[in-house]
Amino acid sequence: MKKSGSVAVYLCSNCGTDYPKWLGQCPNCNEWGTLGEFKVSKSKQGSKNRAPSKSTPLTDILQKSQTKRLPTHIAEVDRVLGGGILPGSLILLGGNPGIGKSTLALQMLGKLEKPTLYISAEESEAQIAMRAKRLQITSSEMKLSGENHIDNILEQIISLKPEVVIIDSIQTVYSDSIDSLPGSVSQIRESGQQLLQICKERGVTIILIGHVTKEGIIAGPRMLEHMVDTVLYLEGDDRYDHRILRSVKNRFGATNEVGIFQMQSQGLIEVENPSELFLAERSVNVAGSAIFPSLEGTRPILVEVQALVSNANFGTPQRNVNGFDLRRLSMLLAVLEKRIKLPMGSRDTFVNLVGGLRIDDPAADLAVIGAIASSALDKPIPQNMILIGEVGLAGEVRSVSQLEKRLIESQTLGFKSAIVPKYGFKKASQAPANMKYYQVDSVKKAFEIIFP
Ligand code: TYD
Ligand code: MG
Repeated sequence: MKKSGSVAVYLCSNCGTDYPKWLGQCPNCNEWGTLGEFKVSKSKQGSKNRAPSKSTPLTDILQKSQTKRLPTHIAEVDRVLGGGILPGSLILLGGNPGIGKSTLALQMLGKLEKPTLYISAEESEAQIAMRAKRLQITSSEMKLSGENHIDNILEQIISLKPEVVIIDSIQTVYSDSIDSLPGSVSQIRESGQQLLQICKERGVTIILIGHVTKEGIIAGPRMLEHMVDTVLYLEGDDRYDHRILRSVKNRFGATNEVGIFQMQSQGLIEVENPSELFLAERSVNVAGSAIFPSLEGTRPILVEVQALVSNANFGTPQRNVNGFDLRRLSMLLAVLEKRIKLPMGSRDTFVNLVGGLRIDDPAADLAVIGAIASSALDKPIPQNMILIGEVGLAGEVRSVSQLEKRLIESQTLGFKSAIVPKYGFKKASQAPANMKYYQVDSVKKAFEIIFP
């Protein structure tokens, strides 16, 4: 039944698509039972009094939009964003509760010599001010507000004319025109849409902070991710103090870039040399440890892969992995069993990427398989050696991207030799000259060198 003054729409709680009538399955994302009824006030729908649309020549727009990026002066953030904040962009910053989103957001505003506005409905203005003091942010251009009503937020943006606005968090913003609770799909969608509009109309940059659900996605409609220009995730492990800022979508820059920070009492501190951080507590001359130069975006980071192989006490052996794909591990174990004739079927295997890192670079295969074999054979991998290569089902070692860059980082950290794919070099002249390279085409050949 329609109420006067409002119309009902059915909104999918998974993808945020709306439909005029109820359906059992959402035709867009194919989820069952996700459609719920929401009321939208008619005034918001008023298509009759919408301004006539117009179009503009491309060259005019290009001329106008020669806007410079605003550097945050936090090098790790600037790299992830592609050189700084682009005026008029909508950025989504997601992460688990307590990971440091509010801290990072505050620090991003801290060094901007521009009018900024921090809107937080989660913490009081006094709490934010206290935190800002601890982070040594004393910008006179920053304004704080505890507003959470979308209309008032828009009003503040219009009257204060900030260049960068932070909404902490999008889940707490609500609109009267939707009769559901703040944080619900329809509320997030509505406020997201309105913020997008003001962002594009006025060229103000808005950073939306979003909480992440247990499944690791930003709570609320997936649509929010489609709507924004840039999606950043702040990740980390409670057990460690380092945090990784990752861009998973960026309309104005490269994705897969990472920024690495350490959470300290003065806030998030940039880590200039992450390889040193991840190798700091490395155990040398211990079987089951391999070093691999991973590539995060454009940046090589050396990581230690640890493996432990032991005889299984019960029937089915355990396969446990931290920071690496479990299915990929099963494949590598099958390669060991079939191609190297190393029996793995009745042994427990544990693989861990040190420091809580997560890697899905296939170039890590050789280091993982090497660490496993090293533990199974109880022979350490030479201390100054790194392993790089993708492993195929036939036990072959395949080439990887940007081998030279990975080698330069390895050499900087004092590594002397490397097992590399046979056809891996694209620009061999760029590889450091004072390292010894073993070019192999199979895991078998690699093992003959590592474990003579
Ligand atoms: P916070 O930014 O509030 O996380 P989020 O907004 O993602 O929920 O930061 C949460 C944690 O960070 C909190 O447990 C305390 C810690 N922290 C520090 O260790 N040092 C600091 O300088 C600050 C501001 C926070
Ligand atoms: Mg917070």
